[in-house]
Amino acid sequence: MEQKCFVTENEEETWGVACAFAAELKSGDVVCLEGDLGAGKTTFTQGLAAALGAKRAVTSPTFCLVSEHPAKDFLLVHMDLYRLHGPDDVLAIGWEDYLAQGAVLVVEWSDRAGELIPPTAKHVTFTHLDSADGCRRAIEFR
Ligand SMILES: Nc1ncnc2c1ncn2[C@@H]1O[C@H](COP(=O)(O)OP(=O)(O)OP(=O)(O)O)[C@@H](O)[C@H]1O
Ligand SMILES: [Mg+2]
Repeated sequence: MEQKCFVTENEEETWGVACAFAAELKSGDVVCLEGDLGAGKTTFTQGLAAALGAKRAVTSPTFCLVSEHPAKDFLLVHMDLYRLHGPDDVLAIGWEDYLAQGAVLVVEWSDRAGELIPPTAKHVTFTHLDSADGCRRAIEFR
């Protein structure tokens, strides 16, 4: 994926960007999704899971911190750390075990994980481009 910044107008376009990014993922990757509530982190993860051939759909894990999505080449693990307080909580949900087994971790609210985030992690930032109810989102990779 040459381009590093995208603007999407709707969910489908965000899925399209996720699909292009999915091709770059390999076992052991950690992907940090950054951005406000409703910015599109879960929507992007749904697109990723679909592109990777995961059969179980990704939902917004309101009561569920972690969900596992076996994909074609590795286990995709979606985490939403919003309700956690720090690295100790994140370890308690199996962070190291997942990495040891070569899963790909896609993490919303990754700031909760602090120093557990490896320096090699991929970061994706989602930004609302219009007023609260608008649909345009910037998606930036670094
Ligand atoms: N361009 C767009 N890309 C992604 N989602 C969009 C877009 N335009 C509108 N939406 C809507 O915005 C909402 C994004 O919600 P989503 O659950 O993906 O956000 P989130 O970043 O995961 O929020 P949270 O931090 O609460 O988990 C969805 O309702 C989706 O339909
Ligand atoms: Mg979400």
